Amino acid sequence: MRIVVGRVDEFEPGGRRVVDVGRRSIGVFRVGDRFYAISNHCPHQGGPLCAGRTAPWTHSDGPGSARTGEEHVMLACPWHGWEYELATGRSFLGPTEPPARSYQVSVASGETLDQDLDLRVPGRTPGPYVAETYPVRVEDDYVIVDTTTNAGPGDVDATERTGDRS
Ligand code: FES
Repeated sequence: MRIVVGRVDEFEPGGRRVVDVGRRSIGVFRVGDRFYAISNHCPHQGGPLCAGRTAPWTHSDGPGSARTGEEHVMLACPWHGWEYELATGRSFLGPTEPPARSYQVSVASGETLDQDLDLRVPGRTPGPYVAETYPVRVEDDYVIVDTTTNAGPGDVDATERTGDRS
């Protein structure tokens, strides 16, 4: 299922939004111009993971040297502090610790959304009567979460909209 979460400009850099879709609760994060989506259910004991703080991964080449990179952002659960990588949901606590579920995020022009999303309702058959409709243009860019696949490295940069519909 592909879910339109909101307009790109509704997300401040560093901002987040938690959306509930059916039984799922999903946090969508903007880090710089990149978007990530991750389950709000912490694999440890079910805490509200997306209420936690984010921080860039810190690298050190030796004493007195530390640098951070935006490409690996960690999210810490507010209950016990377990950390997960935003892009993949991976934990680094140990090989047996389960990852948090992460989701693919894309940014698409509003002009393409009606072609892009499947708006059919299962179990409904169109009848013979058709009311007149009018074209509506939606010009902004929208953030879309795909709940059918794990994200892996599939976070998206808002400045590199691809229009990928996979
Ligand atoms: S429930 Fe998230 S760290 Fe324990």
